[in-house]
Amino acid sequence: MRIRAAVLEEFGKPLNVTDVDLDEPRAGEVLVRLVACGVCHTDLYTASGVDPSGYAPTVLGHEGAGVVERIGPGVTSLAVGDHVVTLFAPQCRECEHCRSGRTNLCLAIREQQNQGYLPDGTTRLSRDGEPIRHFMGTSTFAEYTVMPEIALAKVRPDAPLEAACLFACGLSTGLGAAMYTAQVREAATCVVFGAGMVGLGAVAGCRLQGAERIICVDLSEERLAMATAQGATDVWQAGPDIVQRIQQETRGFGADYTFEATGLVKVMQQAVEAARMGWGLCTVAGVAGKGETLDVIPRWLIQGRRIAGSSFGGVRGRDQVPQLIDRYMAGEIDVDAFISHRITLAEVNRGFELMEAQDGIRSVIQFG
Ligand SMILES: NC(=O)c1ccc[n+]([C@@H]2O[C@H](COP(=O)([O-])OP(=O)(O)OC[C@H]3O[C@@H](n4cnc5c(N)ncnc54)[C@H](O)[C@@H]3O)[C@@H](O)[C@H]2O)c1
Ligand SMILES: [Zn+2]
Ligand SMILES: [Zn+2]
Repeated sequence: MRIRAAVLEEFGKPLNVTDVDLDEPRAGEVLVRLVACGVCHTDLYTASGVDPSGYAPTVLGHEGAGVVERIGPGVTSLAVGDHVVTLFAPQCRECEHCRSGRTNLCLAIREQQNQGYLPDGTTRLSRDGEPIRHFMGTSTFAEYTVMPEIALAKVRPDAPLEAACLFACGLSTGLGAAMYTAQVREAATCVVFGAGMVGLGAVAGCRLQGAERIICVDLSEERLAMATAQGATDVWQAGPDIVQRIQQETRGFGADYTFEATGLVKVMQQAVEAARMGWGLCTVAGVAGKGETLDVIPRWLIQGRRIAGSSFGGVRGRDQVPQLIDRYMAGEIDVDAFISHRITLAEVNRGFELMEAQDGIRSVIQFG
């Protein structure tokens, strides 16, 4: 079929919204009609050419939600008409990692996905017979996409898809960092560095876990106000003396849990040092620049602090995205506050500009 899609033709250039061909789903694959898709930093990161593992041409986009249009042979967990959230982190439920119950990093289709191919090593996207690669296994800046069944979370049909799409990446990453990676305990003191989509999600996750004190640190007053709305009890301006301030306000100990959601290694260091001696856990969600390293004095670790990395918030997509959406539908997570701009697919480059200007939290593409 012929579809409209936003193609990254060349790094550093605006995306080209154009017609491409999409083949029918093969075994284990599903054709999804996109209804909504968020514009995330990772799309921009790849488009800019900074990402060393990037490739072109490709159809970007990975924060999608839509409706199952057709299923390929052997698909059993999804049916036509189901509402789904796309997962750049699949959950096969069969590999060593899925079965371990200890990680959400499924091993099933990693290699092919990282290179822009569907699990059988080919693409369904093409133009004039030339293959176009699938970005993050999702390619959701498009009217339709073909994805593996194991990379789609079936969600309740009454959840608005423009909100559901945010659970495909940033929001789940933040919520999950607090709920699944750190498993914040009741009455804990938490510090969240960064109040973008990921940090605000972490604030909400800490609140859902019953944290007593949630300190959010950012440079932007506007974003700190959003953190308050998501449940932060304290909002502080970022600065070099922030670790000292956190220690002062916790009787010299530090916070039970800290979260880094900026992607800046200096802030990661602050998040480690602000964690409590004895048991403080620092969860790193931000993605640092290529080649950057995190500087930690070993004494901070000897004193009982721990560091955990978190990819997609540790969320097992097919099992837990539907659970998070249930909590949204129960009124426990204010997702609508994050949708700052609604745009069309043709306006996708404006979505990038808004993000670069830090104008709002999320632009959501609405299809049709
Ligand atoms: N681990 C994952 O699976 C995953 C998924 C999505 C995004 N990410 C990463 O998470 C990070 C955050 O994503 P986002 O969409 O929320 O980004 P964002 O740019 O919207 O938010 C980052 C925030 O950090 C703030 N900030 C800047 N300097 C600061 C400082 N010194 N102290 C405190 N805050 C500071 C900024 O003002 C901004 O509000 C990025 O690095 C992104 O790549 C990771
Ligand atoms: Zn993302
Ligand atoms: Zn798996």
